[in-house]
Amino acid sequence: MIIRSRIIGCGAYLPERVITNAELAEQVDTTNAWIIERTGILERHVAATGELTSDLATQAAKRALAAAGLTAVALDMIILATATPDHTFPATAAKVQSQLGMKRGAAFDIQAVCSGFIYALTVADQFIRNAQAHTVLVIGAETFSRLLDWTDRNTCILFGDGAGAVVLRAEPGVGDSQDNGILSAHIHTDGRYYDLLYVDGGPSSGRSTGFLRMIGKDVFRYAIVHLANMVGEALTANHLTLADIDWLVPHQANRRILDGTARKLGLPADKVIITVAHHANTSAASIPLALNEGVADRRIRPGHLVLLEAMGGGFTWGACLVRI
Ligand code: UT7
Repeated sequence: MIIRSRIIGCGAYLPERVITNAELAEQVDTTNAWIIERTGILERHVAATGELTSDLATQAAKRALAAAGLTAVALDMIILATATPDHTFPATAAKVQSQLGMKRGAAFDIQAVCSGFIYALTVADQFIRNAQAHTVLVIGAETFSRLLDWTDRNTCILFGDGAGAVVLRAEPGVGDSQDNGILSAHIHTDGRYYDLLYVDGGPSSGRSTGFLRMIGKDVFRYAIVHLANMVGEALTANHLTLADIDWLVPHQANRRILDGTARKLGLPADKVIITVAHHANTSAASIPLALNEGVADRRIRPGHLVLLEAMGGGFTWGACLVRI
């Protein structure tokens, strides 16, 4: 018998304020038609003044706990993936822990930008498999609106704010691909591409928060290659084929990246959960937001094989193959 990390509840939260492409076209030299054609984005949610990453995370966490039928007392650990923490320190996870009323266990942040949720799931899975934690809350939460240069049309149209969360619980498995839970997790980094997608500020650089900077075309090219390769890596590790996958839940950066990845793989487009039109790119929050949507509208059902995958700054990339 082996221990598997099973997803027993999902939750999500989006801030109330929605910014349409038409509103952005009043601020920068862009059009609704350009944004839709090049990205597939129609609108994005943006946190209110004073609404912090911890607030978004706490709301998503409460919903995931409710879906799991648990309270925070049951948790051994909180892992929060974010590149937009409330403060440089302490970890935003510590504030979420306190807002949830959890007084024991451990809570910490993980930073792998858009791949953050995959990294956080991977770490949580290690603790559960090693029997060092039984029930773990994994959150992806971001307020990228605070990192945007709202005068830069190349970047300000692409991102949104939001949060998603899952509760993982240890369950016995037999060790084959029919088990429920995370079947395998795969993470990668290649720091040679650090400068293609970064924020030009931060404590050690001596400049305050800074703005997001990106060479979009290069990121786009690498994203399709890495995302397609991740599918092969996860399937091979589990002796499965593309036909076994019920749903691909990718990081949502650009509709063209999602379509390009599906095309490169030969995966039917109706097996991909796509939320980018209404959420834009919410970095570490995008996968749990999309997963939650697929579970909530019952496209994703118990027993389905789901591949979660992401690529982002660093470069970082990774995937988790999960049976729901
Ligand atoms: O989460 C992971 C990280 N992010 C990503 O994965 C994003 C990856 N990259 C992308 O999604 C795309 O590269 C973008 C959407 C950012 C850009 O699309 P593109 O097709 O690669 O456009 P481009 O950067 O080659 O720009 C084409 C033209 C340029 O004008 P010129 O130089 O041809 O005259 C840009 O200045 O489009 C112009 N442009 C815009 N025009 C209207 C760039 N942004 C805009 C805009 N509105 N918002």
